Amino acid sequence: MAKHDIGPVGEIAPGQGKAYNVAGTFVVVYRLSDGYYATQARCPHMMGPLARGKILDDRLVQCPLHHARFDIRSGQVVDWANFPPGIQVLNIVRREKALSIYPVSEENGRIYVDI
Ligand code: FES
Repeated sequence: MAKHDIGPVGEIAPGQGKAYNVAGTFVVVYRLSDGYYATQARCPHMMGPLARGKILDDRLVQCPLHHARFDIRSGQVVDWANFPPGIQVLNIVRREKALSIYPVSEENGRIYVDI
């Protein structure tokens, strides 16, 4: 793993996430109440863009495509794809899968992601 400078603290609004290409890996960096976190950028269900998802309760990201919800801090699935009704049929082949997560740190006003 190597530490990559992705930009100044404050580039991401509180309660929001932003997509970055960090050394060829697409991630979303989220700014929650207790700091910054990073997950893979594409939903493991069908590649939905998590940077366009909703952040709920200072804890979860909801995929914009079929509403799977993940715990941002751990990457664990909280609810799997459930929208629109009927999408669950696909879940036989698209099984639950957690997000990869990456350590994020702040130093001297910059944000770093370890990949
Ligand atoms: S692509 Fe994310 S829930 Fe389907």
